[in-house]
Amino acid sequence: MNSSESRNAYIQAKLAKKTVDPNPFKQFKQWFDEALKAELHEPNAMVLTTVDKSQQPSQRTVLLKYFDENGFVFFTNYKSKKSEHIQSNNAVSVLFPWYGIKRQVMITGRAKKISPVESARYFLSRPFGSQLGAWISHQSKVISSRSLLETKLEEMKQKFSSGKVPVPDFWGGYQITLDTIEFWQGRPNRLHDRIMYVKDENNWKIKRLSP
Ligand SMILES: Cc1cc2nc3c(=O)[nH]c(=O)nc-3n(C[C@H](O)[C@H](O)[C@H](O)COP(=O)(O)O)c2cc1C
Repeated sequence: MNSSESRNAYIQAKLAKKTVDPNPFKQFKQWFDEALKAELHEPNAMVLTTVDKSQQPSQRTVLLKYFDENGFVFFTNYKSKKSEHIQSNNAVSVLFPWYGIKRQVMITGRAKKISPVESARYFLSRPFGSQLGAWISHQSKVISSRSLLETKLEEMKQKFSSGKVPVPDFWGGYQITLDTIEFWQGRPNRLHDRIMYVKDENNWKIKRLSP
């Protein structure tokens, strides 16, 4: 199947409690692989919502780098706005907007920092420029001009001319553990399929929601 054939196949797909995988991570893996096969643009881009101390929500896109039964992992600056929010309230939600195949996946859960060793493993796999970028950006802080960033980049290139860049202590990953995950499949006449997994102790309950 080429990507447009697979896109059509997924657009016509159906979701039912009896046919989804009882394990939500396996179900997500299946859909994620299908989003890749359909050649959606950045299928690992997810919209992350956090809430600040005054209950004001805010959203931004981050990239899902890996996931397993322990949770979904993304990387960021630990002093950014999102990180400040997570520090005071670790409840987050995530949305994968896979419009090209009439699907979305919504997650609610809790974010926690992964270990420094795990963050370092990923950091060291990144290109030199991205590693420098992590050092340079005081993410979410007000800056007077872009040229400040460009100057800092030149300084950092000199400083780390050996090519070896240490992991900044203010940078790393978060793992989101899941409380709920909903798979949404567009269907004709707005009678969409919505299948939601809800964590109940160590089991997952599967429910169908009205569109
Ligand atoms: C496609 C895309 C992917 C992004 N991936 C990340 C990411 O993985 N980590 C990150 O910190 N910011 C990422 N960003 C930038 C964020 O959307 C955001 O601007 C930044 O994290 C600061 O957010 P905050 O001020 O709310 O903390 C990405 C933006 C886009 C458009």
